[in-house]
Amino acid sequence: MYKHLSPDITENFFEVVKKRRAIRKYKQYDIPKEDLEKMFEAARLAPSTENSQPWRFVIVKDQKTKELLAKPYFQNRTFLTQPFIADANAIVVVLGDSSSSCCPRQTWITRDPLIATEHLVLAATALGYGTCWIANYESRPKEWIDEVKKTLKIPEHMHIIVLVAIGIPDENPPPRPRKSLQEICFEEAYGNPLKFH
Ligand SMILES: Cc1cc2nc3c(=O)[nH]c(=O)nc-3n(C[C@H](O)[C@H](O)[C@H](O)COP(=O)(O)O)c2cc1C
Repeated sequence: MYKHLSPDITENFFEVVKKRRAIRKYKQYDIPKEDLEKMFEAARLAPSTENSQPWRFVIVKDQKTKELLAKPYFQNRTFLTQPFIADANAIVVVLGDSSSSCCPRQTWITRDPLIATEHLVLAATALGYGTCWIANYESRPKEWIDEVKKTLKIPEHMHIIVLVAIGIPDENPPPRPRKSLQEICFEEAYGNPLKFH
């Protein structure tokens, strides 16, 4: 019989995964550098295509910059706004390096930073922080992306992949629904339900 890691490690891992929620309301708090270091260390250890590590992270705590990241905008005649971005204790701007030699293709510079981002999110959860992925910037006007890149001094070859809001949770939302294992896991062929018992 295969010997698992210690039950503590396994249980703690699942506790963290289950505890994570998208949190959109935060208490005022200045996240200490040692906590940020742990989150970024988790991101740093993520796997990547040919170990290319084409990710960079800019942490933003400055209120004016957070407001820029939260700036409302029009899309299809709808006014889109996510004001909670400006209230987060910090925003991590996740970047993908398009000059990475092994990863010139758009999918790769996106995929690897996203893997690292989930490492960061789970580490933040394990430390007691709430997080929220923010990807809606993709449809943002080019002027906004240019302004963010200029403000944060992001080089041309670095692409903004996603933002992550981090903070002390000021809400406790229930788990959001998920598809069942039967709906998403198959055995040997698609559609053949994987039976666990
Ligand atoms: C790639 C990605 C992009 C997301 N973008 C946003 C966003 O722009 N705004 C937002 O409020 N939530 C965003 N979310 C959070 C999702 O809405 C949330 O994860 C989902 O509803 C499931 O809820 P849970 O995270 O609490 O389990 C995003 C999540 C992911 C993974």
